[in-house]
Order: sequence, then C-alpha cells, then structure tokens
Amino acid sequence: MHLVTLKDWSAAQIHEVVATGSALRKNPGQNTQTLAGRTLALLFQKTSTRTRCAGEIGIAQLGGRPLYLDWRSTNFGLADLADEIRVLAEYVDFIVVRFLKNSDVRRAAEASRVPVMNGCCDRYHPMQILADLQTIHESLGRLEGVRLTYVGAHNNVCNSLIAAGLKVGMKVTVATPEPEPAAADAELCAAGRQAGLYATTTDLRAALDQCDVIYTDTWIDMEYFLDPAFAAEKDRRLQLYMPYQLNHQLLAGRDLRIMHCLPAHRGYEIDGALLDDPRSIIMAQAQNRLHSQKAVLLHLAANS
Ligand code: CP
Ligand code: NVA
Repeated sequence: MHLVTLKDWSAAQIHEVVATGSALRKNPGQNTQTLAGRTLALLFQKTSTRTRCAGEIGIAQLGGRPLYLDWRSTNFGLADLADEIRVLAEYVDFIVVRFLKNSDVRRAAEASRVPVMNGCCDRYHPMQILADLQTIHESLGRLEGVRLTYVGAHNNVCNSLIAAGLKVGMKVTVATPEPEPAAADAELCAAGRQAGLYATTTDLRAALDQCDVIYTDTWIDMEYFLDPAFAAEKDRRLQLYMPYQLNHQLLAGRDLRIMHCLPAHRGYEIDGALLDDPRSIIMAQAQNRLHSQKAVLLHLAANS
C-alpha cells in the first residue's frame, strides 16, 4: 500500500492516522521499537525542511533508520526511474519521494514492492494534509462539518485539502482570483462540487464570514520561486494575488484558525506577524508533521 494521493485512501484510514498522530503527540515515548531494523529512504528532487526532518526523525523515533538521498547525487537521473526504484526497494522498507512530477511519483509506486509516500509533487501534498487534519481536529474537536477557506493559488496543497475534505466531510472554499488553473485536479473539483464540499469564490470577505479555518500557501511553488525563466509569471502572480494576502486588517475581529503549511513568504501570501497571532495554529501544524509522519509509517507497516 502507498500514499500517492488521499484520493486513494478511505475515510477510515485517514481518521486512523489522525488519531494515531494525536496519540503520539500526547505520548511520544510510544512505539520506540515498533520499526526496529527498518529503513526509510527519502529521495528528494526538491528542497525541504519539514518533510525531510519529520521523515528522518520520525523513523528514528520508531526504532528504525533514515537514508536521505538527494536525487542529484544518485544515478536516478541517468537511468530508468522504475529500474532504480526497484533496486532501492530491495534495500529499504519505506520510501518518501519528493518529485517534481506526479507521474513520476505514480511510476515509483508502481515499481516499488515497499510503500511509497508522496512527500509533495506538482499535484498533491498528502502527508502535509494528514498533519493538517490532525491539527484541525486537535483545535476544533471535529473534522466533519468544518468550513475551511483556502486563500490564494490553487496548487498541490489545495488539491490535497479538497481530496481530504471529500473523505472527512470538511467543506473547502477556494478564494482565488484564478479559479481552477492548470494545477487544479479537474476531476477532483467536479467531485467536490457535486458533493457540496468544494466551491470557489473571488469574494474573499464573504468567504471569511462563513469559515472556521483560513489556510494559505505560497503563490509560487518552490521549484519556480528563484527560477529566472519564471520571473515574468512570478511578477504577474504577485500583482494578481496581493489583494488575497492574509493580514491583520483582513482578519480583524474574526474568530477563526489561521493555517499555513510553511515555508511562509512573509509579506506575500501572509503578513509575517500573523504567524504569532493567538488564532494561528501554524506552529502546531509544523510540529504535527513529525507525529503524523510516524502515524503514516505505522499505518503502512501494519497494512502492507
Ligand atoms: N510543508 C512542507 O512540506 O515543508 P517542506 O517543504 O520544508 O518539507
Ligand atoms: N505549494 C508548495 C508547498 C510547499 C510545502 C510548494 O510546492 O512549494
């Protein structure tokens, strides 16, 4: 069993990982030897703080060991992806991949005899959203019926929030000047609309009137942020999205939770001061990446 997208997981699986993650947060001394002798490979094409650290530390806390592989220092770039993944899967027990393309994540999962976890691709970021669901549940005491407004660019995080919402009954409203750009999963959006668990709006203030949680992410995914070839598109987006920045003025007097998967681009999608606002659960979100990663590993170990 793999974790390529939450579309492939059942509601029961998601709830189990959320509950296990919360139990591990309360009692991190549990399961210290459950994965003794097992190895987690982390094969990354892109940079990372949270996903890499949560993976490396998480497997160690469960008794196993990590093997971090920067794609460029391996022979993955020279050879067929499936061949190299098959070899890696002979050495290790779990693999986290952070690849540019979702098609490569899927190919890796197909080729691997051990569980593959998607540590963020162009399309989805399921491990982030499992930690987010845990954080929302710990903060609000429920997932079903929660109204989450995602503000900004519809991207990998947004797709995974919609996928999760469909499974747990959380309504995701996307407040954006560009509804459903190429990065959006059109099939998922259609299913979400049909279920009444997904909508888009350009009226940010109206969306805020009816939400429990507000969530934002970068307007430009990490691989493009410093890419000179993306400079014109970056400028276009900064202008287009600036009215959708989360800041004190916008959120004044509103009773809601503030979320961001991080890394934050202070002064762009979020006013940096909001990270420390009493309504912010952003640092709990980041902390839960570790507990949730451990919960995913335990779930995959028990079900593969
Ligand atoms: N949120 C998240 O995935 O962070 P990293 O890119 O630092 O792993
Ligand atoms: N949408 C962001 C998520 C970072 C964790 C990106 O892909 O860069």
